Amino acid sequence: MSQIFELMKKYDCEELHFRYDPKTKLRAIIAINSTKRGSMCSGGVRMRNYKNEDEALWDALNLSLAMTQKCAAIKANVGGGKAIIWNTPKEKNADLLTCFAKFMCSLGGRFRTAVDVGLNHEDGETIIKTCPYVEGQPEKYGGLGTEGDTTAIGVIKAMKSGCKYLFGNKSLKGKIIALQGLGNVGSFMVEFLIKEKAILIIADTDGKIVKDIKMKHPSVKTVSPNEILFQKCDILSPCAIGGILNSKTIPKLRCGMICGAANNQLYKPKSDIRLIEKRGILFLPDFIVNAGGIIQAIVEINKGTKRQAIRNTKIIEKNIAYILGEHKKTRKNTLEIAHELIDTRLK
Ligand code: NAI
Repeated sequence: MSQIFELMKKYDCEELHFRYDPKTKLRAIIAINSTKRGSMCSGGVRMRNYKNEDEALWDALNLSLAMTQKCAAIKANVGGGKAIIWNTPKEKNADLLTCFAKFMCSLGGRFRTAVDVGLNHEDGETIIKTCPYVEGQPEKYGGLGTEGDTTAIGVIKAMKSGCKYLFGNKSLKGKIIALQGLGNVGSFMVEFLIKEKAILIIADTDGKIVKDIKMKHPSVKTVSPNEILFQKCDILSPCAIGGILNSKTIPKLRCGMICGAANNQLYKPKSDIRLIEKRGILFLPDFIVNAGGIIQAIVEINKGTKRQAIRNTKIIEKNIAYILGEHKKTRKNTLEIAHELIDTRLK
């Protein structure tokens, strides 16, 4: 059994809300990590069939902390939160999502969300029918549509800053990029990177997605999900799940830089960043790189436009340029500098 308050202390988490519904079997957690920058908190909702309760709780705590860091990094007056639904894809239905929506609504708008891993926009539509606090939904709900494209644009801006640092110019032309995960964000990454004339190696656990992309873009190389992390490439772009950079995978990486949308890529951040540095690989911290989604959500809450959201992703480029400048000057690792930047913005 988890020591809940100890865990909350460890992750700096202010509030944890639990909901179980015997009828639909919904098991959901909403974590409100921090209201230091604003009483309204924002973060995605994801659905996964977690191995056990500890894993579900860890995900909610860890992801909500990442949201606080993201909001601070982009100087938003919004706190960090996250919701997780611990159910199987088979258990997902309108009743379960409506039950989750009522749970969310009971917080009176203090927590706002957008669909994340394991949920799609139809699921978002089901939630929004009961609970209005959902961003990234279609225009008919007053939304700005998917956040996947804005997130991908931010990731690519970060990549370009990384290229300037490593290779002396921002161009992605001819750069070999290994892309893990081709979902909401990854599918846009493919389109944008092809426009940039990058050379793509792709993988996804869903074979149909890979097949469809290969049909549309025959030039991309496809590899199995087990091989993607270890491809010889200029940039590795994790856009699927967290924890993929760890003591087992890092020694086998063959990339110059890591820059992707996936949250919490480092399994054990403090030790894993050291292993990555020792390998001479440049790591761009995920909570700085993947802020495009929350940037769009905030513009949407303020009734702005998609164009404004895309324009506002400029702050990602600025943050990465700052981190790399400090990295060059002080030789501190990129994660440490990113945390220092966030700490100043949280004070
Ligand atoms: P998604 O669920 O739409 O896509 C993830 C894709 O990764 C799926 O196609 C899935 O089949 C694939 N996948 C899962 N495990 C894999 C593995 N081991 N190897 C290869 N492929 C695998 O999720 P989405 O929205 O694209 O998000 C991707 C990541 O980016 C997540 O970590 C998410 O938290 C993060 N993120 C997403 C944002 C957004 O705007 N959607 C914003 C910020 C972060």
